[in-house]
Amino acid sequence: MSFPPDFVWGVAASAYQIEGAAAVDGRGPSIWDTFCRTPGAVFQGHTGDVACDHYHRAAEDVGLIGEIGARAYRLSIAWPRVMPDGVGRVNAKGLAFYDRLVDRLLAAGVEPYVTLFHWDYPEALYHRGGWLNRESADWFAEYTHGVVGALSDRVTHWMTLNEPQVFLKFGHADGTNAPGLKLPLAEQLLATHHVLLAHGRGMQALRAAARRPVKAGWACVCVVKYPRTPADVDAARAGTCGVAEPNLWNNTWHNDPVFRGEYPADGLRVFGGAMPKVDDADMGIIRQPMDFLGVNIYEGQPVRADEHGAPVACVRPAGYPTTAFHWPVEPESLYWGPRFMHERYGVPVYITENGLSNTDWVSLDGQVHDPQRIDFTRRYLLALRRARADGVDVRGYFHWSLMDNFEWSAGYRERFGLVHVDFGTQARTLKDSARWYRTVIERNGENL
Ligand code: FCB
Repeated sequence: MSFPPDFVWGVAASAYQIEGAAAVDGRGPSIWDTFCRTPGAVFQGHTGDVACDHYHRAAEDVGLIGEIGARAYRLSIAWPRVMPDGVGRVNAKGLAFYDRLVDRLLAAGVEPYVTLFHWDYPEALYHRGGWLNRESADWFAEYTHGVVGALSDRVTHWMTLNEPQVFLKFGHADGTNAPGLKLPLAEQLLATHHVLLAHGRGMQALRAAARRPVKAGWACVCVVKYPRTPADVDAARAGTCGVAEPNLWNNTWHNDPVFRGEYPADGLRVFGGAMPKVDDADMGIIRQPMDFLGVNIYEGQPVRADEHGAPVACVRPAGYPTTAFHWPVEPESLYWGPRFMHERYGVPVYITENGLSNTDWVSLDGQVHDPQRIDFTRRYLLALRRARADGVDVRGYFHWSLMDNFEWSAGYRERFGLVHVDFGTQARTLKDSARWYRTVIERNGENL
């Protein structure tokens, strides 16, 4: 059992989490700059002002990707760096940063996979209503057109949005992420509809602006329910592909419109009167040809079938393994998540994020020993390899993350990197896991 020879081995990061240089070279403010200044919003008041200072250390960081041996790097573009007001004026210096980065990556033999929006929404557009404003779809299309026009002579792989579930639910319902809103359900659904329209209009802009044939998709959270026993597979599938509760934490409310041009019937029932009025033509905009689906998977929920075949969450025993973030270690999620998504949507799947936060530090010997990250990744990759062997069309795996970085409302508390970052000195140290991952890439997973 092995991965196909063209399997894409990558690492991932995002703009706000690593770049820093928040007020450098004409970057406009994003909602995360503002959120970080809200008392109590982010762990110990941390901000992304400096982060990993990647904006000034990109050459060194591309070198690290080379040392890890990754063939691909998933990065995101900071919308307010390229368009400080969100629309209109393009900031040439901001765009030039990504232009150089792409050149550096290609020169190092690393394929860029570019996400257009990874949560750092332009503050200026937020003040015009943000995702609650239907025009937000046009704003995103304008921005996308500009970026793709500039970089698609060299960048082939594109993603529109990262994890709509997270920035909508945590940002607009729970208030724990930027912009910190706690909207009623009807407005959450309206914002979601506009996000889906933005995806659709973004895909159209992408194809229109592309200077060469491109491969385009988006990267969603994959909320995985997996079977405890073989008898529970149908229940797990129903759980993974259903909307059971009146909130945005699911797969199909986001992906069915995109891949099938319709909201799922169970969701329409669950959301009932809170559902906005939807123009039929909108669904045609939202459903654009998709070359792939990116799924971000960190964990899953074991379920069993009840007497009617419905999924019931299994309680994990006390002392169940968890990461530093207290996320459960659930390798099965990397088998069943891609499998259920591939079954339902029929497109190639990429694991656009997977990894863990761990209590890593630099040891007395100057090295960073992180056996948990090696064991975690090994277990998850074995599950993914099994999915491949069972016919799931998974094309690549991007480890989150290239390096320790700003973990949103958890600030710098959670270390997800293959590379350790000392946030005082900006010193980078390859962790043991980075050297191990290199061997996995070299052997194409045969040594797992
Ligand atoms: C995902 C985000 C990513 C990172 C990981 C740990 O939800 O897409 O930016 O924070 O979680």
